[in-house]
Amino acid sequence: MIKKKFYVTTPIYYPNDIPHVGHAYTTIVADVLARWNRLKGNDVFFLTGTDDHGKKIAETAKDKGKKPKEFVDGLIPVFKENWKSLNIDYDKFIRTTDKDHEKVVQEMLQKSFDNGDIYKGNYEGLYCVGCEAYYTEKDLEDGRCPIHKKPVELIKEESYFFKLSKYQDKLLKLYGKNPNFILPKSKKNEIVNRVKEGLRDLSISRTSFDWGVPLPFDKKHVCYVWFDALFNYYSGGKKYWPANVHLIGKDILWFHSVYWPAFLMSVGLDLPKTVFAHGWWTFDKEKISKSRGKVLSVKELISIAGVDSARYFLCRATPFGDDGDFSEKALIERHNNELANKLGNLVSRVSGLIEKFGIEKTPNKFIKKLNEKKIEKLFENYEFDKVLNEIFAFIDDCNEYVQSKKIWETKDKKALYELKESILKIAELLQAFIPESAEKITKQFSAKNIKKGEILFKKIEIDEKINKNEKPEGIMTMSEVTFGDWEKLDLRVAQIKKVEDIEGADKLYKVELDVGKEIGKRIICAGLKEYYSKEDLKGKKIIYFSNLAPRKMRGIESQGMLLAASTEGHKKVVLIAPEKDIELGSRVG
Ligand code: MSP
Repeated sequence: MIKKKFYVTTPIYYPNDIPHVGHAYTTIVADVLARWNRLKGNDVFFLTGTDDHGKKIAETAKDKGKKPKEFVDGLIPVFKENWKSLNIDYDKFIRTTDKDHEKVVQEMLQKSFDNGDIYKGNYEGLYCVGCEAYYTEKDLEDGRCPIHKKPVELIKEESYFFKLSKYQDKLLKLYGKNPNFILPKSKKNEIVNRVKEGLRDLSISRTSFDWGVPLPFDKKHVCYVWFDALFNYYSGGKKYWPANVHLIGKDILWFHSVYWPAFLMSVGLDLPKTVFAHGWWTFDKEKISKSRGKVLSVKELISIAGVDSARYFLCRATPFGDDGDFSEKALIERHNNELANKLGNLVSRVSGLIEKFGIEKTPNKFIKKLNEKKIEKLFENYEFDKVLNEIFAFIDDCNEYVQSKKIWETKDKKALYELKESILKIAELLQAFIPESAEKITKQFSAKNIKKGEILFKKIEIDEKINKNEKPEGIMTMSEVTFGDWEKLDLRVAQIKKVEDIEGADKLYKVELDVGKEIGKRIICAGLKEYYSKEDLKGKKIIYFSNLAPRKMRGIESQGMLLAASTEGHKKVVLIAPEKDIELGSRVG
């Protein structure tokens, strides 16, 4: 039997910073698709990598005082380690600085040039370095780039142009003939309408900087970063070309659904089957943004509730194609309610019962409740949230089966056999999403002697987890105080007398304060563990907010807060102290 080929790609990311949850998202979904297709016995090729060239990278490198190549070389291991830590099992990691890729780009430029699709001209336009793209006045919002909201630059230079206008009809035909070329369908119309409005030829070379692939027919010019970047999908997986699906974020759909097929048509290569544009994640309802401290690195993502829970959450929380909001709380809730309470509970209960009573082989009628065909269909439609809904509905069925059969009383070995088989099936279906846990379950339930193993998903108390990017508990920064509030505050000099750990809390200390004669002793909970050792804190004189409403935290009544200063994203937090010794209880302000 000939295996079906399945070739999936992620965007190649700009290695100008470490990857965050948004980059992780596309990469995780690509991994889910790759794993699922491997399970189906398909011949899978999964490509990811980095987009090393371009003005943006050259400028960031310069800011850091490094040569572009040296700068990007430093970030590649970080990308690779990050993907490894998320259990991303790609087949190839491509970089646009790879020699064989650069060679392909030059061949393609030459081909396109030879058949008359590239010509020399002058370019004057409004350029956004962040997007590495030109905009027309019409595209701008208040004179700024609609994506980065930053001012655009007026650039004038000699440039080679690609005859994009020539491809308008061909592209419209393509969208008409292949309804799955752009997915989801909701995003397709926007592209079709824009293309109908007409396409301008595209400037595809630069002379103002040299960090790129030189044009083979005019070495003064380097190739436009998107021409270079898009061809990674071909150069990185020639044997598997055309790709079955390019997974991308909606921000780069235009490049993938207009430029890319036009470039391919120009050089006479087959077109990918589908370009799927997913939505964007916000973080606590705000745009992911470094300057606002709203970024979640891969490391932070994993630290919340483990790798599998992170992968699970991103696939489950929002339909692929829609925007979603990421919050630590929402992730922990799904980890607790779905992975720990439903899946974890089923696995632990059934393995425990089997360890006690054993199993007896029987035809498995119960498993018919699971609709595998439906799951396959949902996978084909990129409806990963629904795939998981379906699997979890079956997990509910299994838990109910244990309950309704009262197996702990009836010791029904046949029912336990059915459940064992069902759990193995569940593990198989979940393998693409939560590979580590699925493998554990498979191992546990395929053993000769099934035993109750360790807990798969430990429940996490939401209180104890403080979002790293949120203010630590029990401290206050002056930015929160508005002018009118000032006089209402009662700020006092106090001394830290005692500092204790709080059982189960990894960020909070219980702190005892002496606030002088008038106020006396006070107890507060403060999220300072990441920033100060107990010894550092003991004896320190600090500023205390005495008239805040008490709050119960981890069973302790916290009577106020300490005053602190912090850097962006609360990476660094320092307590504010009186400059000279002064009596405890003295007022501040
Ligand atoms: N280098 C280009 C892509 C070239 S592909 C031939 C690029 N790189 S990027 O580093 O900016 O990464 C863009 C991709 O990261 C998006 O298309 C999307 O896949 C992902 N995301 C970045 N931020 C995101 C969110 N906030 N939410 C979801 N995904 C986002 O563009």
